[in-house]
Amino acid sequence: MKKMIPDFIKAKENGEKITMLTAYDYPAARQAEEAGIDIILVGDSLGNVILGYDSTVPVTMENMIYHAKAVKRGAPQTFTVVDLPFMSYSTLELALHNAGRLVQEGGADAVKLEGGEAFADTVKALNKAGIPVVGHIGLTPQTATQLGGFKVQGRDIESARRLYNDAKALQEAGVFMLVLELIPRQVGEHISKELRIPTIGIGAGSECDGQVLVYHDILGIYDRFKPKFVKQYAQIGAQAVKAIKEYNKEVKTGGFPASEHTFNLSDEVINKLYNN
Ligand code: KIV
Repeated sequence: MKKMIPDFIKAKENGEKITMLTAYDYPAARQAEEAGIDIILVGDSLGNVILGYDSTVPVTMENMIYHAKAVKRGAPQTFTVVDLPFMSYSTLELALHNAGRLVQEGGADAVKLEGGEAFADTVKALNKAGIPVVGHIGLTPQTATQLGGFKVQGRDIESARRLYNDAKALQEAGVFMLVLELIPRQVGEHISKELRIPTIGIGAGSECDGQVLVYHDILGIYDRFKPKFVKQYAQIGAQAVKAIKEYNKEVKTGGFPASEHTFNLSDEVINKLYNN
């Protein structure tokens, strides 16, 4: 049965961990649903791992909707969060319009946006319109340049306090879940203990209420770099290259297609075809 927001709140109350995994297309979504993942995130990380950009900044609303639709077809029974891409929620009007599109056209159960207290009014407006929101603080890839690059946030007392205040402000504004990215585990633990809503960590330690990782990272498909917080559970990328090399070689040397991959005419048809 599809898990919904009250199930995630209850999971936190009961100390049960929540699993979130990104997916961007039909087969990955099917696999995630079959594996029993609680929440699928159609992350704007698709800019990196699917579209080959250096950052998530170029990702568009059209990209997000296209991929969200495919994911929903693959995992109709899994709660699906879709990212609002860069600049798509820079005003209240834009946020309402674009979050509405992710829900109506993309089939999102909820949307995720990056940023702290400054987005409290946006969260309130979306909630008022009936759109559930997931927050995302710590390292926020859309604005990584402002944060000094892809580095751990909240290491000193001032920035750790700011993260805590952002977390509280977002909770009060109405997010039902909060992603914590690339922060020291003690900060992740403190925020998780203080909030009523579940926290989902990525490089934020094991004390968060759940964890999220990128599909291509856990399967070893994206090999440009492997962050410290990623665990590879398979090396599918290397296996894929090996298989494709074999196919390439067999076609060139005549090993493929073999008779079992080939369709034949009956002798009767062959005789009529060539002997008349
Ligand atoms: O876009 C994404 O995949 C994300 C996760 C890394 C949390 O935001």
